[in-house]
Amino acid sequence: MSDMDHSVRLAHLFNRLREPIFRSAIQVLRFPSGSRGLDAGCGAGLQALLLAEAVGPAGHTTGLDLASELLACAEDMVKKAGLSERISFREGDVNDLPFDDDTFDWAWSVDLVGYAPIEPLPLVQELARVVKPGGSVAILAWSSENLLPGHPLLEARLKTTTAGIAPFVKGKEPESHFLRAFGWLRDAGLEERTARTFAGDAHAPLIDEVRSALTALFEMRWPGVEPELREEDADGEHLWAEYRRLCLPESPDFILEHPDYYAFFTYSMFQGKVAE
Ligand SMILES: C[S@@+](CC[C@H](N)C(=O)[O-])C[C@H]1O[C@@H](n2cnc3c(N)ncnc32)[C@H](O)[C@@H]1O
Repeated sequence: MSDMDHSVRLAHLFNRLREPIFRSAIQVLRFPSGSRGLDAGCGAGLQALLLAEAVGPAGHTTGLDLASELLACAEDMVKKAGLSERISFREGDVNDLPFDDDTFDWAWSVDLVGYAPIEPLPLVQELARVVKPGGSVAILAWSSENLLPGHPLLEARLKTTTAGIAPFVKGKEPESHFLRAFGWLRDAGLEERTARTFAGDAHAPLIDEVRSALTALFEMRWPGVEPELREEDADGEHLWAEYRRLCLPESPDFILEHPDYYAFFTYSMFQGKVAE
């Protein structure tokens, strides 16, 4: 499987966990029926479908991404869904959007602003530039998870690893952390700012799709944690053994098989209006 096929497969897999969250967020944003918006860094285009549904047949959603192959998959999906009139895709860089000022009624972006190497403030400013006065700019990102019920020490230690704090990087200024995005919106001149967090969850018995999504999430969330878990002392060794026992699908104690498994995770959304 190519890297691109893998990315698209993962996007569809994670959609099972994320879609309810994005539906809730879109409901809160109340994009007007018939409005036109931008999904910046749209990836496989799955949220463009939800956005198009929200603005109805008279509205339009433009998905923009750097990755042309991802866009080709997204286009194909939209065509099959019969929504090509309502959703279009454009290859481009969010740092220099290929749109005139005041093109859209709103902009939406998930898991992009706040991810290095893109500087967050110029990006929020660029999103605000292409949105009409009074229109909305909403940025969302994964903000927390509790995936290992009953194992708070292991989970807390995982949260302190390099992977656990990503996309934040140790030593970076606190203002660059996504949960400081409220300030980015202010500095970009956005008004009537709001911040909301949305939770998604899963519990046993896990249907196959959710189990596969969570298994993939475990792999994606904590890659290469062994040295960091082991580095300290006997406790570190213990945590590494615990990690392998609970978090690897081949372990007989893989936590997703627990009959009482329960997990939750959150996305946070920061939103503001372009000054009139
Ligand atoms: C983590 S993915 C998120 C995709 C999608 N928003 C989602 O939540 O499923 C980040 C996306 O941003 C795109 N991207 C990264 N840098 C970009 C840039 N400078 N301009 C446009 N897209 C970019 C990547 O190709 C990728 O599809």
